Amino acid sequence: MTQDELKQAVAKAAADYVAANVPPGSIVGVGTGSTANFFIDELAKIKDRVAATVASSEATKKRLEGHGIKVLDLNEVSRMPVYVDGADEITAKLEMVKGGGGALTREKIVAAVADRFVCVCDQSKLVGTLGSFPLPVEVIPMARAYVAREVEKLGGQPKLREGFVTDNGNLILDVHGLAITDPAGFETRLNQIVGVVTNGLFACRGADLLLLATPDGVRSMTR
Ligand code: A5P
Repeated sequence: MTQDELKQAVAKAAADYVAANVPPGSIVGVGTGSTANFFIDELAKIKDRVAATVASSEATKKRLEGHGIKVLDLNEVSRMPVYVDGADEITAKLEMVKGGGGALTREKIVAAVADRFVCVCDQSKLVGTLGSFPLPVEVIPMARAYVAREVEKLGGQPKLREGFVTDNGNLILDVHGLAITDPAGFETRLNQIVGVVTNGLFACRGADLLLLATPDGVRSMTR
């Protein structure tokens, strides 16, 4: 199976999960990236079961609206049973690195409101230790150089994502050279650097369910 076929299979499994577990008329949080895009296309097939969605990026909002799916501002929503999104890396404890697409801050905010985070990945994303994928850190532009120096003190090699501005008008430092043995601790430590908006570690609030696409089928994993 190609990687796209695996993503397609796991996206279908996530739509089946929504159809089976989310009360009709609920609001669904939707992530960003190529796997999330496949999920949006599957969600379109069951859109009558969903009252509306909340999008984690402008790109996701556009794709949802393109399918005629209603998108709400998060401030209008107090309850969301599920958030579905991909990851760049995930461990068996369901701690993740996210933000390869640069949408990490909105993803973390929408995920915080949801009761359950369902992560959809192909098997290439499952790792023993997080950090081989460069860790994205969203920074306020005037703090870029300061944050980079502070990240170096923590053992990382930050690299500015050239020509990229987030949906929030900020910059991304991609931090290379990490082997993250304490994901929740490192997530908290990075967020204490003044000028960091958030970082791509999703460990303090990891996923609740991983749907992992393999050539033998979609596996379900919980913590
Ligand atoms: C977007 O900012 C990311 O967090 C994505 O969720 C993550 O990069 C996974 O994307 P793919 O499904 O395209 O691999």
